[in-house]
Amino acid sequence: MKQFFSFGLLVSVLLAFLTACGAVPTLDTKKPTIILIPAAFSKAAVYDEVKGRLSNIGYDVVAINLPSVGHGAGRVDRTPDIKWVQRAIGMRLRQGKNVVLVGNSYGATVICDAVKDFEARSMLKSYGPANGKISGLIFFSGFLPYINELSGARPDIRQISPPWFRFEATSRVFWDGDLAKAPPSVTLFNLLSKQQSNVWAAKLEPSSFAALNATAKYIPYDGKFRSLYVIASKDYAVTPAFAKTYIDQPGAKFETVTIDSDHMPMLSRPDAFVEVVDKFASVKEASE
Ligand SMILES: *[C@@H]1O[C@H](CO)[C@@H](O)[C@H](O)[C@H]1NC(C)=O
Repeated sequence: MKQFFSFGLLVSVLLAFLTACGAVPTLDTKKPTIILIPAAFSKAAVYDEVKGRLSNIGYDVVAINLPSVGHGAGRVDRTPDIKWVQRAIGMRLRQGKNVVLVGNSYGATVICDAVKDFEARSMLKSYGPANGKISGLIFFSGFLPYINELSGARPDIRQISPPWFRFEATSRVFWDGDLAKAPPSVTLFNLLSKQQSNVWAAKLEPSSFAALNATAKYIPYDGKFRSLYVIASKDYAVTPAFAKTYIDQPGAKFETVTIDSDHMPMLSRPDAFVEVVDKFASVKEASE
């Protein structure tokens, strides 16, 4: 008996019908997965808005809650943060998907260490079929390890942190060290309305001292991985001048872009955030 319709055709027709009905999101399998890592004091929920917007334009998106943020933060160091991110990366690569890693502030440090075991999967280092690769890393106001940190030249976090950090001995770190002069509405959410700033300030949680004070083990931005540093012109936590100390290091190879944002662009500048990620993720490699 002759089959007029192949199973594949049937599936595409069904999918097209469902898509037209708006029943399934139009996930573009050629687009990389976007893995979003939050800052210290922040949970993955800060990414809800941009996650929705990126999904709407066809991306598979995952936002990760770091074990080093939360009330039990004092019990962990940076290791589980790195492990959780590596697990998300590994799962996507095994599925043959490409991955873009996005880190905000301390989250940028975590993605640097997380790609250490995936150097052979860097889009810049590997040849052959362009799938199952790490397309690159995006640092939004990244609080990065300096290149010389690997040789041990790093001060204690208490010497280099903003003055409004509050240290609960060497267990947990809080953001409320100077609520009179440097409340979250000034340090983190300075472009949000007073009401929105209060909403997000109420969701801040302590971070682990050991996680913040850990020494980095890997530098990906010296040509090993494609790396974009996003400078935020109205950021009072990682100021543009401070960002320059990372970008201007001898040996650092960053693409850079400046956006009109505070420290938390996923909240205050979601359009710019999505545009930067989409543009970065859309660059096609020569081997594709
Ligand atoms: C923080 O890190 C520095 C630099 O590695 C180290 O010398 C110091 O002992 C650490 N502080 C604590 C309390 O672990």
